[in-house]
Amino acid sequence: MATWKTLLLQDSASPLMEQLSFFHDHTLLILVIITVLVGQLMITLFFNKLSHRCLLEGQFIEIVWTILPAVTLIFIALPSLRLIYILDEVNNPLLTIKSIGHQWYWSYEYSDFKNIEFDSYMVPINSLKSYQFRLLDVDNRTVIPFETQIRILVTAMDVIHSWTVPSLGVKIDATPGRLNQISFSINRTGLFYGQCSEICGANHSFMPIVIESISPKYFMKWIFKVSET
Ligand code: CUA
Repeated sequence: MATWKTLLLQDSASPLMEQLSFFHDHTLLILVIITVLVGQLMITLFFNKLSHRCLLEGQFIEIVWTILPAVTLIFIALPSLRLIYILDEVNNPLLTIKSIGHQWYWSYEYSDFKNIEFDSYMVPINSLKSYQFRLLDVDNRTVIPFETQIRILVTAMDVIHSWTVPSLGVKIDATPGRLNQISFSINRTGLFYGQCSEICGANHSFMPIVIESISPKYFMKWIFKVSET
């Protein structure tokens, strides 16, 4: 979960997010190098009085500062492209969950079992427990087993929403009339918080997502318990 002073990405809880973090660091490093180089050039340009009366063109330097940025961009584009294809990959999901965006809450369907359905509303501020996070906790969490390939099918009932959980590296639009899919697996136990990230109306900020990652064994127990009630 993001807390105060979380300036960069959250800690990854899935292989996808790990790769995204690596890509982020790689790109940030290139960015810092460019900033330092250009900054140094601009500062030296500012603090010297050199001039060259006869200078009209510099073919060589023109070639260098055209090719160099192009090569740099390739070094960003290729890993980025690789990541896009990795994120889109679906490898034999063991569990499929459907998530439906509404104004303004998410509802979930576990249709691999006895068609478990529930709504997941944000806990209002006046009924928050001391262990809950303001604007971020929900009444019914999305329970998911860890180390399991999950497929999430995402759609919406009314307007466009976006099912986004940063620590899992998942961000996918929920569009009415369409069914989007994304797959991921979680590395560890824990609570992973997310929010809608498509401006979807007045209460856009108040439709959080809470993933409760537990062991597959306890997940089965949870399924049995929920399907009985
Ligand atoms: Cu749903 Cu923003």
